[in-house]
Amino acid sequence: MAGKIQPIDIQRELTKIKHPELKKDIVSLGMIGSLEIGEEETNILVKTPSQDRRIQIGLEAQIRQTLSKKEGVGKVKIKFEVDPKMTLDDSNKILGVKKVIAIGSGKGGVGKSTVTVNLAAAAAAMGYKVGVMDADIYGPSIGKMFGVNGKVALKAEEDKIYPLEKDGLKIISFSFLIEEKQPVVWRGPMLGKAVEQFLYDIVWGELDFLFIDLPPGTGDVQLSLAQLIDLDGAILVTTPQTVALLDANRAASMFQQVKVPILGVVENMSEFVCPNCGHSSAIFSQGGGQKLADSADTKFLGGVPLTMDVMNAGEAGKPLVFQEPDGIIAKSYKNILQNLAEEIKKWE
Ligand SMILES: Nc1ncnc2c1ncn2[C@@H]1O[C@H](COP(=O)(O)OP(=O)(O)OP(=O)(O)O)[C@@H](O)[C@H]1O
Ligand SMILES: [Mg+2]
Repeated sequence: MAGKIQPIDIQRELTKIKHPELKKDIVSLGMIGSLEIGEEETNILVKTPSQDRRIQIGLEAQIRQTLSKKEGVGKVKIKFEVDPKMTLDDSNKILGVKKVIAIGSGKGGVGKSTVTVNLAAAAAAMGYKVGVMDADIYGPSIGKMFGVNGKVALKAEEDKIYPLEKDGLKIISFSFLIEEKQPVVWRGPMLGKAVEQFLYDIVWGELDFLFIDLPPGTGDVQLSLAQLIDLDGAILVTTPQTVALLDANRAASMFQQVKVPILGVVENMSEFVCPNCGHSSAIFSQGGGQKLADSADTKFLGGVPLTMDVMNAGEAGKPLVFQEPDGIIAKSYKNILQNLAEEIKKWE
């Protein structure tokens, strides 16, 4: 008896099977033509664009092995159908995610992670389904800013990793996968492998936005990260000072080099808002974000003031946008998000 097993249960098992030449599983690639569960047996039709028997045999072996561990499947019959017109999507798109947006900065410490976290929080508050990926392998800080620690709750099943959920957002960080005090010494191929797994084995489900906090700088790691994923766009974060702007320009060139559209510039710490009287003063020079946007031929998405509350919220592990949904910071982020949405529309 095949028992009460449902096609969806089998489909879930089949998502564990990767195409030998592509990085994706056979379900996502649309290779499962049909799946029928009878009284005695389970029939699976696998569609493939090529006649290559080695691939077929390999896939069949993997399917059998995976399903043999599942109870109630019964006898498995696998048929292959060659459809030369079929194309397998070998792009590096992250499945189920509508828009993948990287947040980059040339210089460290400009508030890139803070912007990522609050932008994500603002988007979630507006009803979007949002994920955040902390790809800052050298200084992951997203978990801390959201007040989550992966090692406690991270659920890894087979080769799949499920993001943590907090305040309606899905969150994943390299820090969830490594020991807290362990120095990150991933280099070369090992780094590539870790990043690849990190990027492709995460089950995000359906998302409107995935925001990726890239490591600061414009070195190889940033470049390869920007290339490993098909990014829909990038946001540059800068502070108003000229030094930060120079570095941000370098980041702009990096994205242009790998043909990732720059959706716009966020100027963080634009002005200082006095915690006592609410008066704002431009303690750094002004207009830097706009200048960068002009030189990178992109849009100035908006500025975020410098306030004590932003910093304290980062320490407390609750984004300020959630703490004070009607405060000036939340308003700045909503404004940025609206401008971002307009830019995204233009690129479509
Ligand atoms: N608008 C702001 N007002 C006040 N403090 C801020 C603001 N934005 C960021 N900060 C603070 O500045 C510090 C650096 O911010 P953050 O960690 O987000 O920068 P980063 O660019 O991600 O740094 P790194 O290069 O180390 O990844 C943090 O302590 C953060 O709380
Ligand atoms: Mg950071």
